[in-house]
Amino acid sequence: MSGLLSLVLPAPVVTVEAYDDPPGVLLFPAEEAVIARAVDKRRREFTTVRHCARAALAQLGVAAAPIVPGERGAPGWPAGIVGSMTHCAGFRGSAVAWSSEVTAIGLDAEPAGPLPDGVLEAVARPEEILALDRAARGVPWDRLLFSAKESVYKAWFPIAHRFLDFSEARLDLGADGTFTAVVLTAGPGEPTGFTGRWICKDGLVITAIAV
Ligand SMILES: CC(C)(COP(=O)(O)OP(=O)(O)OC[C@H]1O[C@@H](n2cnc3c(N)ncnc32)[C@H](O)[C@@H]1OP(=O)(O)O)[C@@H](O)C(=O)NCCC(=O)NCCS
Repeated sequence: MSGLLSLVLPAPVVTVEAYDDPPGVLLFPAEEAVIARAVDKRRREFTTVRHCARAALAQLGVAAAPIVPGERGAPGWPAGIVGSMTHCAGFRGSAVAWSSEVTAIGLDAEPAGPLPDGVLEAVARPEEILALDRAARGVPWDRLLFSAKESVYKAWFPIAHRFLDFSEARLDLGADGTFTAVVLTAGPGEPTGFTGRWICKDGLVITAIAV
């Protein structure tokens, strides 16, 4: 079954998603060590998203290997691979590609409801808040903006290797399912912007970038 992720990340990116947590999935010892003291919710999302990632890697012919959080939480992919992972209530998703074909991937999924009070003001620039007064109904634009910023960060970090605050990128969300981001603080050798795709479907907002 081709899923939601294939709508926002077409080939050469391989995507695998899950809507529940299959029993009996085994982790590598290095991964077990990361979540040894984690609560059940964290253990489930961590395990299932890696199950997805390994299924995606298998489609590229890459053998199963541990995917351990590294620098600032960024996942450590097998040599020659770039990828991104996301989990939220009812969804886990992973996207991978050969680094010879794709420079970086950013992927984020969120429940398709409005952000909790106060969050938009904390993550959005004033001009972004002004632009959120959209005509199209049925899309939680504030949640979409938040998700797109998280996708920007996940694509940004493996290239730039530094934290990027929410205020450091200005996003423009298109009603056509695309978005652009300008990184206002990009230094030499850092990405100055990104383009991505979004979808709001089946109770989820999903944003994705393939550089
Ligand atoms: C890291 C962050 C983006 C994760 O997003 P989230 O919505 O909380 O959680 P998600 O489930 O969607 O994603 C979690 C996954 O992100 C990935 N991730 C974590 N840190 C990462 C990093 N520095 N770079 C790339 N990917 C990262 C991991 O794969 C993680 O899953 P894992 O812990 O099971 O390995 C978020 O917690 C954060 O720190 N945001 C602040 C920075 C930011 O978003 N800036 C916006 C710039 S415009």
